[in-house]
Amino acid sequence: MSFNKEWEAVHSSMDWGMTMDDALSKRISIYFPEPKGLTLLDLGCGIGANAIPLSLMGYTVTAVDGSSTAIEKLKKNARGHCIEVEAVCDDITSPSFYKFRSSRFDVIIDICTLEMLTLTDAEFVVGHCRELLKPGGLFFSKMSATTVPHGLDRTGDHRAATLHQVTGMFKDYFFDKPKIAVSILPSGWVRAHWLVEAKR
Ligand SMILES: C[S@@+](CC[C@H](N)C(=O)[O-])C[C@H]1O[C@@H](n2cnc3c(N)ncnc32)[C@H](O)[C@@H]1O
Repeated sequence: MSFNKEWEAVHSSMDWGMTMDDALSKRISIYFPEPKGLTLLDLGCGIGANAIPLSLMGYTVTAVDGSSTAIEKLKKNARGHCIEVEAVCDDITSPSFYKFRSSRFDVIIDICTLEMLTLTDAEFVVGHCRELLKPGGLFFSKMSATTVPHGLDRTGDHRAATLHQVTGMFKDYFFDKPKIAVSILPSGWVRAHWLVEAKR
C-alpha cells in the first residue's frame, strides 16, 4: 500500500486531465439534476479536471490526490474560478485517510485512478469508501477494461480489470452489471472502460 511517486514527475511535466470526463458528466446529471449542496469526493483528482467543473455545478467537493504537485495545481485552478474545493494531499491506500470521514459523502467518483492501483489496493479503497458514503450514496467509477499500449503507461502501474474483478470489488454495494464505454482514439487505438454505478 503506497503512492507511486512517479506521479509527481508526471504532474510536474504536464497538465494531466484538463477536461471533465464525458461519461461522468452525462451520467451524474441523470442521478443528480439538482447538485447544489451535495457532497462529493474525487479519488485521485489530479489537477481538477472533474473536481473543478463539479464544484462549479454546485457540488461541495473534496478532492484527494497523492501528488502534492497536482494538489497545488488544483488549488490554483480553483482560485482562478473563484471556487472553494477542499484539496487534500493523501494516499487513498492508507487506512488513515478514511478516519473521521465516515458517512460524509453523497457521491464518490473514481475517474481512472483505481486502475492505477493493485487489485488488492483497489479492493481496499472500494471497501473503505463504502463507509464514507451516506446510506444510498453513489460510487461512480470509470475503470479500464483494456490494457494500455506500451509507452502510454507513464507510471508502469496501469491495470485492466475483468468483469469478475469489478463485481468482486463492489460486492458489498447495490449495483447492476457495469456498463462498457468504448472510445476510439485518433491513432486507431480502441479503449474500453467499465462504468460502475454502485450504491451504499
Ligand atoms: C490517471 S490519473 C487520473 C486523474 C483524474 N482523475 C482525471 O481524470 O484527470 C490518476 C491519478 O491518481 C493519483 N493517484 C495514484 N495513486 C494514488 C494514491 N495511492 N493515492 C492518491 N492518489 C493517487 C495520481 O497522482 C493521478 O493524479
